[in-house]
Amino acid sequence: MDARYALAQDLAREAGGLAYGYYRRRHELAVENKGLQDAVSVADKKTEDLIRSRIATRFPDDAFLGEESGASEGLLDGRPIWVVDPIDGTACFLNGMPTWCVSIALVQDGTIELGVIYDPNVDELYAARRGEGTFLNGVRQPVPSAKAFSDGLFGTGFSHRSPTGDFVPFLSGLLEDGGLFLRNGSGALMLAYVAAGRLIGYFEPHINSWDSLAGLLLVREAGGWTSDFLADDGLLRGNLCAASAPDLAPALRALLAKTVPQPARP
Ligand code: IPD
Ligand code: CA
Ligand code: CA
Repeated sequence: MDARYALAQDLAREAGGLAYGYYRRRHELAVENKGLQDAVSVADKKTEDLIRSRIATRFPDDAFLGEESGASEGLLDGRPIWVVDPIDGTACFLNGMPTWCVSIALVQDGTIELGVIYDPNVDELYAARRGEGTFLNGVRQPVPSAKAFSDGLFGTGFSHRSPTGDFVPFLSGLLEDGGLFLRNGSGALMLAYVAAGRLIGYFEPHINSWDSLAGLLLVREAGGWTSDFLADDGLLRGNLCAASAPDLAPALRALLAKTVPQPARP
């Protein structure tokens, strides 16, 4: 695991550098639509190819699940699984907004072991290994301190995989409880911000594993609370995603229970 943790960090930086080169030339990229408000370009594909090939060279027996290239053979036979989003925040990336990142997680036996997120726009590398804390550019992150929704900005995400009714009641409740929301277009980056105490929490009714697993480990290892994303086949089907500072978790769970009766499925 030591070698995999080092590789994840090196790879996130290398892939972030490649993606950043494409970002600077984004007007030249051909864009395809995968669905409603779901675009992809050569930048996403080439960045994932780089990550996947480097992992295959170094750990040929490991499994891989990526947003763009899908799952490798033997995904669920007990070997370590790398779960990768080469560019999280593609809509921002393509439209010239610097809120996107590379997200790399490693799962084994139903447990997230490694989580690394790199934001090349500001050269920030977030890294966590289970049991060892969360680090931002090498500095261990303290336990996030928010206690109430009024203590800061709460991150939110929504995609048209979910019905609007799975999101709007939560948003109303958050505002009624004195909260304010941010949606910056990258679920991974907003989870990293929760781990770093910049946002007080995060909620999205349905998100995929490649968007969220690295960020969820970052939050947990910083001492925060997260929902059990991998329950109910979250790895392959996605799941509801919630995370917060530990002392805000009771209020967040109460709001979720009131406004989001059960995990949404696409
Ligand atoms: C999306 C972003 C967005 C979240 C969506 C994701 P993409 O990923 O994380 O913030 O709300 O659910 O699909 O398409 O930018 O890689
Ligand atoms: Ca994503
Ligand atoms: Ca993506």
